[in-house]
Amino acid sequence: SRTSPAGSVRDYIRTIPDFPHAGIQFRDVTTLFADPRGFRMAVDQMVHPYAGTRIDKVAGLEARGFIMGGAIAHQLAVGFVPIRKAGKLPGAVLSERYTLEYGEAEMQIHDDAIQPGERILLVDDLLATGGTAEAGIRLIERLGGEIAGCTFIIDLPDLGGRKRLEKLGMSVDALCA
Ligand code: PRP
Ligand code: ADE
Repeated sequence: SRTSPAGSVRDYIRTIPDFPHAGIQFRDVTTLFADPRGFRMAVDQMVHPYAGTRIDKVAGLEARGFIMGGAIAHQLAVGFVPIRKAGKLPGAVLSERYTLEYGEAEMQIHDDAIQPGERILLVDDLLATGGTAEAGIRLIERLGGEIAGCTFIIDLPDLGGRKRLEKLGMSVDALCA
């Protein structure tokens, strides 16, 4: 009911076995996004460490990083920059190729989306190998942006993403494992 305890963010996330390939335990955040308390709780918890710090823009990684990143940017009262799969952005872009837990891909950013010295909060739903986030970090840094932090709903620690990003000097936040 409306007055029952809200629980924790992880209670709203479901795991779908063998998606998109056999052996992948897919963490499905659509159930979190669909719940008014779950979604708000996740946004509030991701914003909290950065409220009152200097953030100039939020950058979100396609696709689920757009959903969290847009809400986080609104709450921090800053702009939002999309980092997209290749071929989707209409203007001049920078590109970075990367490997995934299940495949290979390329991310792009508009070459005028970030000004040198701007402090950027990088947002995605999930950190696995860290390949996607590292591509985003490289794109932001090539534009002269300074990454204030990388924030995720879920960290899958066995896949090594947090260690990989910390080796790059990043501050990494996640709400659950
Ligand atoms: C998922 C997830 C992250 C990425 C994490 O996106 O949303 O962006 O994988 O994996 P990594 O840490 O090993 O790079 P996916 O590639 O499924 O794309 P989508 O959001 O467009 O569906
Ligand atoms: N991206 C990479 N690995 C994933 C997983 N296990 N669940 C959801 N998204 C992912």
